[in-house]
Amino acid sequence: MSNSDKKQILADISHISFSYDTKPILQDISLTIQKGERIGIVGESGCGKSTFLKILAGLLRPSSGSVNILGKSVPSDIRKNVSVVMQSAMLLPMTIFENITLGHDYSEGSVRKVLEQVSLLEWVDSLPDGIHTYLGDRADELSGGQAQRLAIARAMCKEAPLLLLDEPTASLDASTAASVMASLDACTADSSRNLTIVHVTHQVEYLKGYDRILRMEGGTLYV
Ligand SMILES: Nc1ncnc2c1ncn2[C@@H]1O[C@H](COP(=O)(O)OP(=O)(O)OP(=O)(O)O)[C@@H](O)[C@H]1O
Ligand SMILES: [Mg+2]
Repeated sequence: MSNSDKKQILADISHISFSYDTKPILQDISLTIQKGERIGIVGESGCGKSTFLKILAGLLRPSSGSVNILGKSVPSDIRKNVSVVMQSAMLLPMTIFENITLGHDYSEGSVRKVLEQVSLLEWVDSLPDGIHTYLGDRADELSGGQAQRLAIARAMCKEAPLLLLDEPTASLDASTAASVMASLDACTADSSRNLTIVHVTHQVEYLKGYDRILRMEGGTLYV
């Protein structure tokens, strides 16, 4: 492999295994992900897909083997390069702006731009304090679709090179899921960002146009 080829590697996952206590979950998974690649992962419930994504996100450490993302292998460094959207959004008792920035120094303009991309700006601007509306009072009033759109906005504002999606629309009804997925596709379509995506889903139709679809079975990833 030439030096220029090496530069294109975003993640190198080498022989990782993982157990919760003594229960083995993942076995000897190796995967190389190129920059800009879009990878889908499918597999039956309980086979280890979310566990694998948590390791990629730097939220869990593998029991053995190594994960290297953009030259970093310490989980706290990995987390800086990764954004995650999970099945249900965790919204905090803070304003909409604070829920999206989570302490990062994003400008109001850039947050508004992303809110527009996820089709939330009109709704946010209709609230009493706009983007600075306190969500603690309203978190229960949000629809599942609005909450997931906020979670997507949070992930997109981070501008991390790797986006991990763990069934981001699984908690939504079919038509809301389709429209949230369309917003997500719109956000991630900008080819100049060369965003890399790993997307776990039971809906293979969401993986149209992806570079690879991998199957996980019994803790083994078939690449
Ligand atoms: N915190 C935990 N402690 C112990 N066992 C766990 C924990 N989290 C998950 N497991 C177990 O690990 C296995 C893999 O779980 P995981 O959530 O990775 O599966 P999954 O493929 O994402 O399933 P689904 O499609 O239902 O989301 C399951 O048997 C699950 O019960
Ligand atoms: Mg899961």
